[in-house]
Amino acid sequence: MPDLDIDPLDLVAPDRYAANGFPHESWTRLRAEDPVHWCEPEGYRPFWAITRHADVKAISSQPELFSSRPRLNLQTVAQEQTMLETFPDAADQGGMPLRMLVTMDPPEHRTYRNLAGPYFRPSVLKTLEDRVGEITTLLLDRHAGTDVEFDFVTEIASWHPLRMICEILGVASKDEGLILRLTNELFGADDPELGRDDRENLLPEMFNFFFNLVEEKRAQPGEDLASVLANGEVDGKPLPHIELLSYFVLVATAGHDTTRNALTVGMHALLDHPDQLAMLQADPTLAKSAADEIVRWASPVIHFIRTANVDTEIGGKAIKAGDNLCLFYPSANRDELVFEDPFAFRIDRDPNPHLGFGVGEHFCLGAALARMELRVFLEQFVARLDRIEANGDPANTAASFVGGYKHLPIRWTLRPS
Ligand code: HEM
Repeated sequence: MPDLDIDPLDLVAPDRYAANGFPHESWTRLRAEDPVHWCEPEGYRPFWAITRHADVKAISSQPELFSSRPRLNLQTVAQEQTMLETFPDAADQGGMPLRMLVTMDPPEHRTYRNLAGPYFRPSVLKTLEDRVGEITTLLLDRHAGTDVEFDFVTEIASWHPLRMICEILGVASKDEGLILRLTNELFGADDPELGRDDRENLLPEMFNFFFNLVEEKRAQPGEDLASVLANGEVDGKPLPHIELLSYFVLVATAGHDTTRNALTVGMHALLDHPDQLAMLQADPTLAKSAADEIVRWASPVIHFIRTANVDTEIGGKAIKAGDNLCLFYPSANRDELVFEDPFAFRIDRDPNPHLGFGVGEHFCLGAALARMELRVFLEQFVARLDRIEANGDPANTAASFVGGYKHLPIRWTLRPS
């Protein structure tokens, strides 16, 4: 194995992400010199770092060889231990008392995915587009004017996708702030500003909220996804308690934190590349390809872990049954073997076979929704924009699972609608 002087903590430790941003330099070296690299970061259980596009794709496309459980993501041994002590029944799920789509394998995975699948079909999303347009207009109106200064993350990006996913899920608007806080505490668990001290109490709080919602939707079913899940059946029986509540947790959190980060990092990329912003203003039909380039560029989901079911091989390396493989999506999305000039931000990139939404069995259920939300936002934004500039540096979130910026101070001049 090549002896690379790469500190594996740069790949996994949330505080390193806060200090340095995404470790693109290390990933670039790994792709070139050891794309399937054994890592033993201090304080973490070891894993293979998978950094090339082809390997991320091959692993994700073979769920029978590479399971999505029990290890979902990178946590310190101490954190895993606390979870195991708090939730001893969840030992076979890595101590996470959640049974979500992302931690299920076929054939069970398909059965559960089919429950929510119809809600995210492009034909249904067409009917949601007007609502996303209204949400966008409302948020932009609040910040219209000359030389308006604000934090793009906390004032716009956090609310834009949140509102839509709450409506899809049937969460009342009065509870949106709560969902935002709980999601920040989940994905920002290691960030001193976003996380909470008693992290073991977070999931019970979420479960409690969604349990009440389930009761409501059982008593008075509506057209929303919450009603479908609350009254849904698997193999002729209602969904088991943990599976049901986990579904809510996944959709409610994955449905906006990811898109929020894409929107934020994408806005920063446009600020940093005025030629690309000018191109989008001149031709707003580019908003569609810009949305995908933003997801490639931002890659808000940094990693997911797979566990080998059998002895096998990836990229010429012998993988033992039980080994963990960490798929680094931002690295796959900068792979020189796949993308021409991968470190250039090009809103008209075509083709753009990025893996920002994953690939294979677990391909993002909300990809079409996220693409539409980003496109609609960009269309309205460039139609009204006169001027924009940074008003300080962005602040990185201390997160190595789903990440990006927690603050992005900007100043813009935006015309009224
Ligand atoms: C830019 C925004 C988004 C990004 C970058 C993103 C990324 C991803 C990735 C990488 C996966 C694959 C997980 C794996 O392979 O294990 C995934 C799965 C998933 N995403 Fe997204 N996502 C986004 C938006 C959304 C939205 C808006 C929803 C709305 C519900 C959503 C719901 C899900 C669900 C339910 C899964 C699990 C699918 C499965 O396991 O079958 N995501 N997402």
